[in-house]
Amino acid sequence: MSSGIAHGVKTLAVLGGGQMGLGIAYVASTRARLPVLIFDKSKEQIERSLALMDRLLSKDVAKGKLEGTEAKEARERITIVDRTKAFRDVDLCVEAVAESLPLKQTLFRSLAEELRPDAILASNTSSISITKIAAATIPQSVSSSSAEGLSSASRVVGIHFFNPVPVMPLVELISGLQTSPETLERARAFATACGKEVTVAKDMPGFVSNALLIPFINEAIMCLEKGIATKEDIDKTLRLGMGHPMGPLTLADFIGLDTCLAIQRTLLEGTGDSKYRPSIFLERMVDAGWLGKKTGKGFYTYDDQGKIVA
Ligand code: 3HC
Repeated sequence: MSSGIAHGVKTLAVLGGGQMGLGIAYVASTRARLPVLIFDKSKEQIERSLALMDRLLSKDVAKGKLEGTEAKEARERITIVDRTKAFRDVDLCVEAVAESLPLKQTLFRSLAEELRPDAILASNTSSISITKIAAATIPQSVSSSSAEGLSSASRVVGIHFFNPVPVMPLVELISGLQTSPETLERARAFATACGKEVTVAKDMPGFVSNALLIPFINEAIMCLEKGIATKEDIDKTLRLGMGHPMGPLTLADFIGLDTCLAIQRTLLEGTGDSKYRPSIFLERMVDAGWLGKKTGKGFYTYDDQGKIVA
């Protein structure tokens, strides 16, 4: 376990308290032992996330992964704040809100003003360009190629965790065009302190992970659309034939069909290549509000405990 100092990162802020934000806060608090501030505009979301945090801590204690006192200390390191201005003294902020470029640009513009100039601004984006997000941090009065413009954008980096964050061993780092080597190394040290293995990808649509995973899921949905096999048989083929822990349709429900569609659209728009056309069935599922496990219905139907019932 780390000493709680990851390359100068002594305090963390997490913007967005959904399943990814909560997972990031969890590994930062339990494994890197960092104090973590969390902001989410939804009080209900925060309550759900804190309840999940307590369940995860209790489970780790029951399994002997954490001592009772370690779990108590980890929980005490988490603070919920009611505005991002409270992030002003942190060393690193990881944003984990919905996959929307305008939303992320607005948030990063504010974070760049509110946080210390040497704080790292990271996005947990699944596919959006880090270079575009970084450009939003440059004040409009300043040229993007001036020293001030370069220094503002150089502290923006992608720190891409995988769901469920406490379980998946990887973090994919994404270096935007303006990301400085020092920012990348500090991000690597932070991810390592959280107990993760690291890969580095260039700022291309979907990076490595989602440029491969989401078209694979999209193809599985097209298989269903064309009636090639039932949803159960598509999933079983990949689980038992290829050793995947979850079939692609179960995984799509787990990730969220809105997220899968948003990433697939980013791949299509970012490359202009029609091979990335989203499945029409996927579009319709999202139109219907059937977003997967989180809404209780996607390709499968889920009970209150998140177990598949049909
Ligand atoms: N949060 C925290 N821990 C969880 C969890 C969750 N949501 N779901 C499961 N776990 C833990 C369990 O508590 C258990 O921990 P333990 O070993 O300490 O008991 C462990 O994971 C295994 O869980 P289970 O025995 O209940 O179930 P499985 O063996 O079926 O594993 C799984 C569940 C780990 C989710 C496995 O099915 C899996 O690896 N699925 C693939 C997940 C995947 O591909 N994730 C990446 C998605 S893509 C992404 O995130 C990128 C984004 O940009 C789209």
